[in-house]
Amino acid sequence: MARQTWKIPDDFILGAAASAWQTEGWDGKRPTQDSYLDMWYKNDPDVWHDGYGPAVATDFYNRYKEDIQYMKDIGLTHYRTSINWSRFLLDYETAEVDEVYAGYIDDVIDELKRCGVEPMLCLEHYEIPTVLLEQYGGWGSKHVVGLFAAYAEKAFERYGDRVKYWFTFNEPIVPQTRIYLDALRYPYEQNTKKWMQWNYHKALATAKAVAIFRKRKPSFREGAKIGVILNPEVAYARSSAPHDQKAAQVYDLFFNRVFLDPSIKGVYPDELMELMAKHDILFDHDEEELSVIKRNTVDFVGVNLYYPKRVQAPSRQWNESTPFHPAYYYEPFELPGRKMNPFRGWEICPRIVYDMAMRLKYEYGNIEWLIAENGMGVEHEERFKNEEGVIQDDYRIDFISAHLREAMKGIADGANCKGYMLWAFTDNVSPMNAFKNRYGLVEIRLENNRSRALKKSACFYRDIIKNRRFETEEFRYK
Ligand code: BG6
Repeated sequence: MARQTWKIPDDFILGAAASAWQTEGWDGKRPTQDSYLDMWYKNDPDVWHDGYGPAVATDFYNRYKEDIQYMKDIGLTHYRTSINWSRFLLDYETAEVDEVYAGYIDDVIDELKRCGVEPMLCLEHYEIPTVLLEQYGGWGSKHVVGLFAAYAEKAFERYGDRVKYWFTFNEPIVPQTRIYLDALRYPYEQNTKKWMQWNYHKALATAKAVAIFRKRKPSFREGAKIGVILNPEVAYARSSAPHDQKAAQVYDLFFNRVFLDPSIKGVYPDELMELMAKHDILFDHDEEELSVIKRNTVDFVGVNLYYPKRVQAPSRQWNESTPFHPAYYYEPFELPGRKMNPFRGWEICPRIVYDMAMRLKYEYGNIEWLIAENGMGVEHEERFKNEEGVIQDDYRIDFISAHLREAMKGIADGANCKGYMLWAFTDNVSPMNAFKNRYGLVEIRLENNRSRALKKSACFYRDIIKNRRFETEEFRYK
């Protein structure tokens, strides 16, 4: 097969991502500072792979200097993680800062900068404090929106002089989709109306944080910007038949445009408003809130891209007593011969990067964006170790190259894509899957006191960052 060489623009971000709860561990955490994830793990440790959860994670809290040395060695241009909201504050009502945890974030930022790695901070990667779920029902509450805005202000105040890239949420749709739409996560309650209320309040919380950010911006680092990290799934219809097309269009409204539109355009699609009213799941809102959303759209977006969503028109009868779920309008379609990551059960389809790039160009004003996560989780990677004990993860190198290639094609066609962040920098804890599927450039050896070791992909990444070029085979992905 023909090999092709791709040139990467000099200012294109080549970094890696993680989150607080998936790496830090609980060392130093006060008993009152549980996040949703901590609470879920404490209540239900058995659903976590091998019973391993966020309690120790990768122990980044104690080992961040060592990890940042690896980042420097690889040459990452940027590193994204989150501030753990549940740990950053002592009192969520008054937004009193926990100096110990805040000081640790200070140190992480300073160490990153000392090592030439630009920090990116996200304010919530599912780390809502448990007490806010217990007292107010979490994101179902408007009071919690206000508490998030107060927390955001404290974070901007503290780190705004050093951090240029800010995000309000990582994948704001995900927790409530797993909790209230599909009842797959603690407390396993199916409630589509709550799902939509959480979606709305997170869009509102983003707008409120953006408003505060803009007000404070003059004291910030030059060029500071704020965005949100979304996970729109590129939805492909099984066929061009109108009923299949409609399935994809409705899927897109409920799962993609529900955040893309308010965050980037400042308004909800009329079609979505109509569908919500029809199925009695319209969120509780008022004109003032909608105008906050309208006036405070994001500067840029992070897009997490892992797999496509393939749908077709539903073939089965919907039982009328079943609570409404968007799946009323679609059902999944499995493309015969699709290429899969069998460990995660996700289809591999690099074309989603190009298609998303063109969509943002033509439908969202060519807003600045970056691939905020993309990566491949693989089980039992130890079987790929060579004689020196280095994991030969050529599949990851192929995966990264194929997706980066689509980004380069998009840029050639005018996409405003500014970077690629690999998920993840080190192996880390996944929700429920824990350390089952490994994503990192850097291996975490759990059996050896969580010692770190570079994988082959880390050397590949170092090379492409340095040389600003990479090669691909002309793969034909479906
Ligand atoms: C993204 C999340 O959806 O996917 C990460 O932002 C997550 O938190 C990553 O770890 C990979 O998914 P998973 O479920 O395999 O960990």
